[in-house]
Amino acid sequence: MNMKLWYAVEVEIARVGETAATTQLWAMNTTGLEVSEDAADFVTLRAYFDAAPDVETLRQNILNNLKLLNLTKLALRRIEASTIADQDWMSEWKKGWEPLLIGRRLVIAPSWKLDQVPQLTDAAGRIVIQIDPGMAFGTGTHETTRGCLELLEHFWPLETESASLLDVGTGTGILAIAAIKLHPGSRVTAFDVDPEAIEVARENAEINQVADDIEIEVNKLSCYADQEFDVVLANLTADVIIPLATDFPAAMKPQGILIVSGILREQGADVTTALTEQQFELIESKPDGEWVSMAFRLKN
Ligand SMILES: C[S@@+](CC[C@H](N)C(=O)[O-])C[C@H]1O[C@@H](n2cnc3c(N)ncnc32)[C@H](O)[C@@H]1O
Repeated sequence: MNMKLWYAVEVEIARVGETAATTQLWAMNTTGLEVSEDAADFVTLRAYFDAAPDVETLRQNILNNLKLLNLTKLALRRIEASTIADQDWMSEWKKGWEPLLIGRRLVIAPSWKLDQVPQLTDAAGRIVIQIDPGMAFGTGTHETTRGCLELLEHFWPLETESASLLDVGTGTGILAIAAIKLHPGSRVTAFDVDPEAIEVARENAEINQVADDIEIEVNKLSCYADQEFDVVLANLTADVIIPLATDFPAAMKPQGILIVSGILREQGADVTTALTEQQFELIESKPDGEWVSMAFRLKN
């Protein structure tokens, strides 16, 4: 029998530069990441791939990201690739994923851990969202997704019967699926610039039995002008959110809520300035590790 080959890349990097590597590993379509935090200042990331990754490009992209964070090359201590020919590897890897309780009302679980959800302390009455780690960003383990889900729980639904929500950069679809499950009957639209992410999001919507209730499409924000959404979610990155700032108001109702994330703490002020210039006021800020998620209200 042919054994499937898996590929692993280990990256040892300064704790302060961890995101410089994780964003690149996700961008290269890792099927999953493990983080070992055994040293005080450094972490070891182990990323798995089902096709051989281009390690030199990865190294260069991580170094570029470190530069953007004003960190030196020394922050990247080691990067090493290996192959794993092990039929049982996948089942070992699956064991590492646990259901995640988020906020007061949500639990995210991979398919192979769904049966454990009812046994979790505090799981009673929570809405279950099934997301398997795959080819798109958004499993709930990342601080930015968690921050968005917590703010979503707080600001959604609004008091209106026919509330509407736009998920900008939907990835796995996790936020849009949570939105429709939190508020059945609402109008939820999700889009991404990446067609692969849209395929994954559609599959996840199907698995969560909400495929008929969410509009999921490849698109761009400017195409939603005049659609008057009550809530807009955008877990992107600061460098994507800032240029999009001028497009958000046209897609929203006056007094609408914009939830943004994917923002490093030190970038929070720049994002706030860009959005304040477009008549948004900051109403909540949720720091988590080196990230911050923020909610804004459109003034008019
Ligand atoms: C950080 S992931 C967020 C995924 C998911 N919404 C979550 O919260 O976990 C960002 C997603 O935004 C998409 N994206 C990047 N730039 C975009 C843009 N200008 N418009 C829409 N989507 C974009 C990426 O393809 C990616 O799927």
